[in-house]
Amino acid sequence: MSNNTKLDLPEIVPQHIAIIMDGNGRWARRRGLPRLAGHRAGTENLRRVIEACVEFGVKYLTIYAFSTENWTRPRDEVSGLMRIFDDVFDRELAELDRQGAQLRHIGRLDGLNDSLREKVRNGIAMTKDNDRLVLNVAFNYGSRDEIVHAIQEMIKDGLDSEEVDEDLVSSYLFTAQSPDPDLVIRTSGEQRTSNFLLWQSAYSEWIFPDVYWPDFGRDELLAAIQEFGSRERRYGGLVPQQT
Ligand code: FPP
Repeated sequence: MSNNTKLDLPEIVPQHIAIIMDGNGRWARRRGLPRLAGHRAGTENLRRVIEACVEFGVKYLTIYAFSTENWTRPRDEVSGLMRIFDDVFDRELAELDRQGAQLRHIGRLDGLNDSLREKVRNGIAMTKDNDRLVLNVAFNYGSRDEIVHAIQEMIKDGLDSEEVDEDLVSSYLFTAQSPDPDLVIRTSGEQRTSNFLLWQSAYSEWIFPDVYWPDFGRDELLAAIQEFGSRERRYGGLVPQQT
C-alpha cells in the first residue's frame, strides 16, 4: 500500500498550495474576543498547516500574511500584527528549521521596522538549505504591485519588447523561484482573489472552504487536497474523450 493510500491522499498531491488565510477577525468576534486574538489563533494554526503540508508531501506553501492594502487597517491592528510577526520569528523559526522548511519572502521588505526586517533576513539565511518544504510568506505583498515592480525591473535591464514573453515575466516576479500554485485556498467562505498571485494562479484550482482560518486544520487541508484530486485540470484545452 503506498503512503498516499494509507493517508487517503489522491495520486496527485498539489506540489504548490497557496492560501489566503481569511476569517481571523470573524473567528474572534464570534467568541467575543478582540480581533488580534483571532490573528494569534491564526498564527497557531499556521504551525499545524505547515506540519500537515510536510506530512502530505506538499513542496511549496505560499501564505498571504499581509497585503499592500492591509496598511489601511486601524493603527492598533497593524501594530498588533507586526508584534505577532516579530514574536513568530522568535518562537517558531527553530521549529520551522527542524521541520526542514525553507523560508522565503515575497513582496516588499520596506515598511517593516529595522528589527523585523533583520529577523526576516536572518530566517531566510538560516533555512536556505532546507528542502522539505518551501514556505513563501507574502508580506507587504500585492500582485499588481509585483507586476509593476517586474515591469520596472525589465525596463531598467534594457530589455527589447521582442524578448518579453510569459516565461520572462514569470522570472521577474517575486515568486520566480517557485512553480505556479496548483491549488489556491481561501478560507472563511469569501470568494475573491484580493490581489493575490494574479499572474501565477491563471490555471490554479481554487477552493473556498466555509471555515475561518483558525479552524482550518489538517483534516480540512486533507479534504481540500482530495477535492483537488477530483478536479480535471484542462489548461484551456479539452478533456480527452474516454473510449
Ligand atoms: C485575514 O483575516 C488575515 C490577515 C490579514 C492576517 C493573516 C495573518 C496571520 C494568520 C498571522 C500569521 C502569519 C505569519 C507569517 C506569522 P481578517 O482579519 O481579514 O479576518 P476577517 O475577514 O474575519 O475580518
